[in-house]
Amino acid sequence: MSGAMTRGADPARVLERLRELRERDAPTHGGRVFAYVYDSGMPDLDRLASEAAELARPLNGLDPTTFPSIAAMERDLVAFARRALNGEKRRPGGKVVGSVTSGGTESCLLAVKTARDLWRDHWRDHDGRAARAIAHGRRPRLVAPATVHAAFHKAAELFDLELDLVPCEPDGSVRARAMIDRLGDDVALVVVSAPAYPSGAIDPIAEVSQAALAWGVSCHVDACFGGFALPWWPDAPEWDLRLPGVTSISADLHKFGYAPKGVSVLLHRGRRRHRRQFFAVTEWPGYPVVNPTLLGSRSASPVAAAWAITQRLGAEGYRELTASIVRSARAIASEVSGIRGLAVLGDPVGPALSLVDDRSVPRDERVDPHRLADEVARRGFKMQHQPGVAQSNGVRLPHSAHLTITPVTERSLPEFGAALRAAADVVRGRPQASATAALAALRLLGYGEDRAPGPSAAWAILRLAGVAPKPAGRSGGTSGSMPARLAPLMALVERLPAPVAEALLIELLARIGEP
Ligand SMILES: Cc1ncc(COP(=O)(O)O)c(C=O)c1O
Repeated sequence: MSGAMTRGADPARVLERLRELRERDAPTHGGRVFAYVYDSGMPDLDRLASEAAELARPLNGLDPTTFPSIAAMERDLVAFARRALNGEKRRPGGKVVGSVTSGGTESCLLAVKTARDLWRDHWRDHDGRAARAIAHGRRPRLVAPATVHAAFHKAAELFDLELDLVPCEPDGSVRARAMIDRLGDDVALVVVSAPAYPSGAIDPIAEVSQAALAWGVSCHVDACFGGFALPWWPDAPEWDLRLPGVTSISADLHKFGYAPKGVSVLLHRGRRRHRRQFFAVTEWPGYPVVNPTLLGSRSASPVAAAWAITQRLGAEGYRELTASIVRSARAIASEVSGIRGLAVLGDPVGPALSLVDDRSVPRDERVDPHRLADEVARRGFKMQHQPGVAQSNGVRLPHSAHLTITPVTERSLPEFGAALRAAADVVRGRPQASATAALAALRLLGYGEDRAPGPSAAWAILRLAGVAPKPAGRSGGTSGSMPARLAPLMALVERLPAPVAEALLIELLARIGEP
């Protein structure tokens, strides 16, 4: 047992140790990390958020009747989101109401649970045959483009829906017709994104939501990523609550709302729909439980931080921050168009770009995006590797390097542009990393679609392939640091049968967390 566990440590030493640990983290500020963090570039806004979070720290969001300050802040946040997403005006379907959740995944999970429950209610009430089918375990479908966020894979698994992924075009866009053709009575929810994280493209929301309305199918817009940037994006197509077929929208305050992690908003059209999201139980001997979201006890700190930030910035503040993102997105797209062998995927609208190799030039002039990301990392910028995906119709979505563009990006544009050009010159002509040896070994060992490796075998494979996190030294466990080059790991993920790749990644993350 460590000294800290038996005796307790000096507070100054505790904080010193935490600072040491934090030194190994990727920089959260300054625009060097193009994923995970959303830096407004305004230190005074961060300070305000910290003070607000500290004021709310002792509260428990479980019970806003005991702590009414939480209800007051949540009302303001829902109202702010509703204005931004054009849900103020009362339209058929009822008043737009909603909840504050702990993040994008929770908002998406709740959107799916709500739609599934409404689907069950509807068919139980209206159709005897369907009621029997439901009683016999018939699963409703969740229709979404292949680029929909993984949170919906999770929701389908947790809430027992059949995930019906609609294949996208090679540029990551999805055809409205392909989506509409999949609608039917057994669809509990159709999901469209604004924008989709992997491609940066806005799905054909107007067409799909209109068709969903005609079918009486719930339609969720996943604006977790773009919800607090697109309202101020010039020339974005209509994608929000102006469209009458849109029944719910998720928008994350901890992304382009610039709040610390742990806060998102889920809006529903109509009180009845919103109330189906809740869980209540009185038949137990404790306090009556009424949970609007998935968690029980929950922190009020991210809510307070988000509240303070939205109060401070107002819509005008968000407009100014978004204007900076728009300039950066255009500048980066233009920089990429000048780099031979590299291209921006599809037609993104919003704060995400994905870089791919340019298939219109000969192979020996192409820039592999994962090798590029590894090389750019050596120059101090972190892009996110996205593996390619084989869709059900055989069309491959290409592997790419994702960039989340934030207001602070503008300050490092010249340096980033130079890093991108230099890195492209180093890797141009080199093909995607190969996973051939690891693949052959796995096949020999009998792993595949039907057989995933257990913890020890998965760890051995990761080590053999040279993609395991570094050992931490004498204290045991791993340091949590990944190898400098991720292209080989991504090649492995892309080529392996999904159950095997997933087992390897689970092992990798689990080992990082093992004492
Ligand atoms: C479109 C979209 N939906 C959902 C999520 C999930 O959000 P979170 O990571 O906050 O759970 C993300 C995260 O990037 C996203 O981009």
